[in-house]
Amino acid sequence: MNTSPLPPLPVRNPATRPALTDALRAATAEKATAARDFLTEAVAEFGGALTFANSLGAEDVVLTDIIFAARLPIDIFLLDTGRLPAETYVLLAELEARYRTRLQLFFPDAGAVENYVRAHGINAFYDSVALRRACCRVRKLDPLQRALAGRKAWITGLRAAQSPTRDGLARRETDAGSGLVKLNPLADWSEAEIWAHIRLRDVPFNALHERFYPSIGCAPCTRAISLGEDLRAGRWWWEAPENKECGLHAKRTPAMTAALKHDDDHLAT
Ligand code: ADX
Ligand code: SF4
Repeated sequence: MNTSPLPPLPVRNPATRPALTDALRAATAEKATAARDFLTEAVAEFGGALTFANSLGAEDVVLTDIIFAARLPIDIFLLDTGRLPAETYVLLAELEARYRTRLQLFFPDAGAVENYVRAHGINAFYDSVALRRACCRVRKLDPLQRALAGRKAWITGLRAAQSPTRDGLARRETDAGSGLVKLNPLADWSEAEIWAHIRLRDVPFNALHERFYPSIGCAPCTRAISLGEDLRAGRWWWEAPENKECGLHAKRTPAMTAALKHDDDHLAT
């Protein structure tokens, strides 16, 4: 007999199950067609010099589905930092089975990770912003450089509504970090449209989304959010909001470049 006062199933995040009204279905279908056309034009423009950065987040599984449904010849890569949640690896295997594909995984340089951990400790990212950025650099930014080598454009799952730091995001921009063209086909999608696409097409998604993780990165740097919190509030939650980008998408101002250099010089001594 189950005498637990807790419900038998965990509470599910209602945001992942929007009411599939006719209006939402129509808006989602229209945006999916627009994203597919946008990606088709990108293939025509960039050919093999185009690649898709896929973190396996809700937006990224939508893009994956659109790419495979339209049979678009676009390379897809995942930066495997070595600290991703177990649920993300479960999803990776599910997606690869569903679309009969393999994503290109990019791992951090083993020697660089060993040096970082020996010098600072396994969870040093909690100790300072500089150490957190240094970890992101070793585990994400350096591998990103390898993933983008020889490319002219990259696709992301960024949306303007994800956070104030992404306000006004364009579908096409020049990436300050890499200098490449950056394409954000879902820039104007709402969270409800993302989930409507996932539900209507039965796209595999990360189980953590049901547990109030709208934005998922590395396991030790991601937690669930509370009702009303910013969608990215669970990322690096112990840091001030202005630091909450790992550098993958930071708009590099001269001040930021100087801060990164200062961190590097400081950590090197
Ligand atoms: S992050 O900069 O804070 O990590 P976020 O998790 O919101 O970014 O993801 C935004 C987009 O960045 C994703 O849709 C994806 O295009 C790209 N991205 C983020 N993390 C990864 C990753 N580990 N591998 C590949 N692409 C990633
Ligand atoms: Fe390291 Fe956390 Fe950045 Fe992942 S998100 S690379 S664990 S600091």
